[in-house]
Amino acid sequence: MSLQAIQSSGYEVVFGDASELLINFLQQRNYSKIFFLVDTNTSEHCYPGIALHIAGDIPHDIIEIDPGEENKNIDICIGIWKMLLDFGADRKALIINLGGGVVTDMGSFAAATYKRGVDFLQIPTTLLSQVDASVGGKTGIDVDAVKNMVGTFTNPQTVIIDTNFLQTLPKREIVSGFAEIIKHGLIVDKDYFNSIKTIDFDNIDDKIIHRSVEIKNEVVTTDPHEKNIRKKLNFGHTIGHAIESYSLQHDKAPLLHGEAIAIGMIAESWLSAQFAGLSDNELNEICKFILSVYPSYKVNEESFDDLIAYMKNDKKNEDDKINFTLLNAIGSSEINFSCSQEEILNSIIFYTNLIK
Ligand SMILES: NC(=O)c1ccc[n+]([C@@H]2O[C@H](COP(=O)([O-])OP(=O)(O)OC[C@H]3O[C@@H](n4cnc5c(N)ncnc54)[C@H](O)[C@@H]3O)[C@@H](O)[C@H]2O)c1
Ligand SMILES: [Zn+2]
Repeated sequence: MSLQAIQSSGYEVVFGDASELLINFLQQRNYSKIFFLVDTNTSEHCYPGIALHIAGDIPHDIIEIDPGEENKNIDICIGIWKMLLDFGADRKALIINLGGGVVTDMGSFAAATYKRGVDFLQIPTTLLSQVDASVGGKTGIDVDAVKNMVGTFTNPQTVIIDTNFLQTLPKREIVSGFAEIIKHGLIVDKDYFNSIKTIDFDNIDDKIIHRSVEIKNEVVTTDPHEKNIRKKLNFGHTIGHAIESYSLQHDKAPLLHGEAIAIGMIAESWLSAQFAGLSDNELNEICKFILSVYPSYKVNEESFDDLIAYMKNDKKNEDDKINFTLLNAIGSSEINFSCSQEEILNSIIFYTNLIK
């Protein structure tokens, strides 16, 4: 049974076979030129299947970049703009971003700014980009170590989610992306949280992905510019981002985003139990589940000053306070808590004690 399209602000998220959905979309439009943005991995694993289907029918050019967050920067973006120019892209061109969050973020940024904006499609190919980067209209690139420092809010024409792409995605990336699914359950939907406990990472049920996109979409369409409710999506990310940044700078094999967010969700659940009314039973339930999925990670006490510094620098803060979204219960969250440094460090110590 096919999954229903999800309506976002002025565009749809459609589920199914990417080639068919793409052909359908293009039949209704009249673009002067079509470009695929891929990285070397999606070029190998995701593009060939589509190419086979659309070959000949839909002339297009390919722009390929190296994979990884370190390439989500202005230099590579200039390269994309120049390629578009060289290939003769005008304002009626279409850019199809086929890849994980790096490709969809940077490709949408390049499209939103090239000649003051051309149309783009998102075809996210990682679990993270399907359930998180696919809706919300955020485009962007990093500047040095500052993630997403430059960007726009620009919506795609359509988002196509084809879960078959996940078959070639490394298991570690799948598990990392799953952290956002856990988060979606924790912040707004207890039944959903319960339903994902039995997930099979080798064969994720499409309905799980669909519901996750639906939750994110409900939140971002209520508050497109992150004035209030959208902050709910920051659950686990205040502490998680700091741990991710620290790990990137200090570890030979750094944590993936979702692995760091998993730790952040445990620490912030502890804060939730202190300040937002989360029961001890539910705190235990959350910790037990997250620890059953993610490897443990030693957070050294020597890192504490750096972690607090990262949290203070977070662009989500206002007035120098460290801002948190906390849980009142599983499936119910509240924004705009601020916690003291001591409380924050205690929440991290809570995590380190759990994994001992
Ligand atoms: N715009 C938003 O709202 C939003 C939300 C969340 C995250 N993001 C951004 O997304 C980025 C992270 O995204 P990500 O986790 O998808 O990382 P990614 O794009 O780096 O992809 C992870 C790895 O998987 C590879 N890959 C992608 N699809 C594959 C497939 N089907 N088979 C095999 N390999 C594949 C990639 O080449 C890469 O090596 C970050 O830059 C983050 O800031 C944006
Ligand atoms: Zn995240």
